Amino acid sequence: MTKRKQHWENVYETKGDQEVSWYQEIPVTSLNLIDSLNLKKDDTIIDIGGGNSNLVVQLSKKGFKNLSVLDISAKSLERTKLKLKQTAENINWIVTDILEFQTSFEFSLWHDRATFHFLTEKEDIEKYVKLVEKAIKTDGFLIIATFSNTGPFKCSGLEITQYSKETLLGLFHDKFELIDAFDDVHKTPFETEQNFIYTVFKRK
Ligand SMILES: C[S@@+](CC[C@H](N)C(=O)[O-])C[C@H]1O[C@@H](n2cnc3c(N)ncnc32)[C@H](O)[C@@H]1O
Repeated sequence: MTKRKQHWENVYETKGDQEVSWYQEIPVTSLNLIDSLNLKKDDTIIDIGGGNSNLVVQLSKKGFKNLSVLDISAKSLERTKLKLKQTAENINWIVTDILEFQTSFEFSLWHDRATFHFLTEKEDIEKYVKLVEKAIKTDGFLIIATFSNTGPFKCSGLEITQYSKETLLGLFHDKFELIDAFDDVHKTPFETEQNFIYTVFKRK
């Protein structure tokens, strides 16, 4: 097991939802953004580093039928499956490090909240960008939310990369058009605040 996987399996073995800073009972900002994209219920959606997020639970309730959740931690996905009960069977669960993910599949929406920012090496960031370019269909969408330039320097004890609208645009502009960008403040379960930047791109 890699050190990275070990870290995340340990987090989800030992901490409940309310004990991790990123937890949201309802991921309102992401859900509002997804609503605004007017996707069809059979469009393909993947949540990268979905972990213990309730996004897939909410999307499933809204009637989305082609949902995938990817995470390096098997334990995190087991926990989300329990929340979904029988509906979990209709969802595609992928346990892998995103840097090892290979897919010939093209998604209508790629959603990543607070996972991309854990990549701190230039080659890893470039690898992720290339993967996203390949994995999203023409006119498909990319939602990326990371800590902003005024956000924390670490998450779950790990170094992260902070981003701004400009630095995200710099990474993705080749194959994507920026359609929305805004700052957002996440209130953690411990009543502290974390500054995020949300960006929405459309595949050219
Ligand atoms: C800060 S949490 C965010 C969870 C979720 N996206 C949310 O918004 O609540 C980061 C998640 O990314 C996963 N993760 C971290 N590095 C990863 C990697 N290299 N590949 C896949 N998943 C990863 C972790 O297991 C964890 O569930």
